Amino acid sequence: MKAAGGGPSAEALMREAVKAREASYSPYSRFAVGAALLGASGRIYHGCNVENASFGLTCCAERTAAFKAVSEGEQEFLAVAVTARTGHGAPPCGACRQVLAEFSPSMWVYWRDTRGKVLKKRLTALLPDLFDFMNHGKKRP
Ligand code: THU
Repeated sequence: MKAAGGGPSAEALMREAVKAREASYSPYSRFAVGAALLGASGRIYHGCNVENASFGLTCCAERTAAFKAVSEGEQEFLAVAVTARTGHGAPPCGACRQVLAEFSPSMWVYWRDTRGKVLKKRLTALLPDLFDFMNHGKKRP
């Protein structure tokens, strides 16, 4: 999916996350999550959580989107929008923050508060002092 010229707003990317959530496979938690990841190319990658009978094998929506993007050749991201059910805030979990920071540590992260308002923070604010084995933070400030 391609973004419109100039790139989508936080609200527009959130609408994509709502669409992505429809594909969630979450029969165990019954907690569907959707993510929309905006690549530097303008492409938007949808992700949803994919659960498993062996619970620990579950993959979050944000990581599903990130792995889809990287597997299709995109490694630089501008923003991610995440949504769960109405009334439930859904900032990315720590594992997903680390995975996204591997590629774009200062990207924007959009999520909803419990009232549905879209909140915006840079990933650097959500994950300060990240583990950065290859010092990507210096290469891509
Ligand atoms: N989940 C996500 O998809 N993203 C997060 O950032 C946190 C949690 C999913 C995993 C699991 O399927 C369900 O939400 C409940 O934890």
